[in-house]
Amino acid sequence: MKQFIHKLYARGELSKDEIVYFLQHLDPESRNELFRFSHKRRLQKYGDKVYLRGLIEFSSFCRQDCLYCGLRASNRDAERYRLNPEQILECCREGYRLGFRTFVLQSGEDFWYTEDMLTHLVQAIKAEFPHSAVTLSIGERGEDTYRRLYAAGADRFLMRHETASRELYEALHPSMSYDNRRTCLRMLKEIGYQIGAGFMVGLPGQTAEDLADDLLYLKALNPDMIGIGPFIPHDHTPLRSAKPGTVGDTLVMIALARLFVPDALIPATTAIGSLDGEGRELALQAGANVVMPNLSPVSVRKKYALYNNKICLGEESAQCRHCLELRIQSAGFSVDMGRGDSLKSLRQQ
Ligand code: SAM
Ligand code: SF4
Ligand code: FES
Repeated sequence: MKQFIHKLYARGELSKDEIVYFLQHLDPESRNELFRFSHKRRLQKYGDKVYLRGLIEFSSFCRQDCLYCGLRASNRDAERYRLNPEQILECCREGYRLGFRTFVLQSGEDFWYTEDMLTHLVQAIKAEFPHSAVTLSIGERGEDTYRRLYAAGADRFLMRHETASRELYEALHPSMSYDNRRTCLRMLKEIGYQIGAGFMVGLPGQTAEDLADDLLYLKALNPDMIGIGPFIPHDHTPLRSAKPGTVGDTLVMIALARLFVPDALIPATTAIGSLDGEGRELALQAGANVVMPNLSPVSVRKKYALYNNKICLGEESAQCRHCLELRIQSAGFSVDMGRGDSLKSLRQQ
């Protein structure tokens, strides 16, 4: 097993067969060795810094029907809300006061927000906070919309590929197309966005082969950011009785992603923090280097319910900011409140 880790560390790649073998034969000793190397690679690339992004979950309406997600259109029990542009700007102001210089605007696929509205919103944020980065995570739109939003000043776009397995993707996304997801990611990259892809770990039916394909897809796409989190069931979805992903498996995939795509920014996700009180700290120690605390108004937090038992539903933005600083320091890292652009994008400037 060690020879795989050393080869991956030296070359940044393994074959599909090697990854599958590795995942299927991982013992505690090799896991620790893997984390030692992914940590080493992270220190080499980004030092001990952890970048903080302010996450604004601005709409819980969604026209899609992903089987795993509490916001899916068929979930009649979901409480829906929308923040208007002024409310979103107010969240950015609060975030700016707290030191954030990246705002991540995330929502269900909600076409109530027209191309014009989103364009004006991005322009307004960039006009008020010209040195901040704006990240969008609003799902699939057309190329013209993506181009206009980029021209308006949006810097980054997060769109997880969710799973590299076509079969699994199609089973989980009755209203979506595997090919279109990938086309969107390519398009966003070509337009000039820093892009974030990523996947869930522990999806029902997911195999070691599928996870190997996730890593190989990421290696080929070479995104600036990689979001990896455990699947967690939501009570009002068809997957309510499915087993959640584990913290251990998620940490292994984070560590492998760090070694496959060393320059990537990798968040310690809210989902891993929701499964385990120490999940985010463990993710940072496995190779993650970003945390995205919530800046949404506390009054809407619990309505953005993707999965059961999500954390930070009652805490004000300032509380999470403070809490995370302590957690990051206690895990042995230091907070960086800068824009935190990816190494790849800095090289291209
Ligand atoms: N609607 C946009 C999209 O799908 O790209 C952005 C928001 S969506 C809620 C953000 C991410 O949440 C998805 O990419 C998915 O990986 C994750 N997610 C949704 N339901 C989840 C669940 N039950 N467990 C873990 N992650 C989940
Ligand atoms: Fe909608 Fe995104 Fe949830 Fe799918 S994952 S139902 S697109 S919010
Ligand atoms: Fe929200 Fe700890 S990060 S309370």
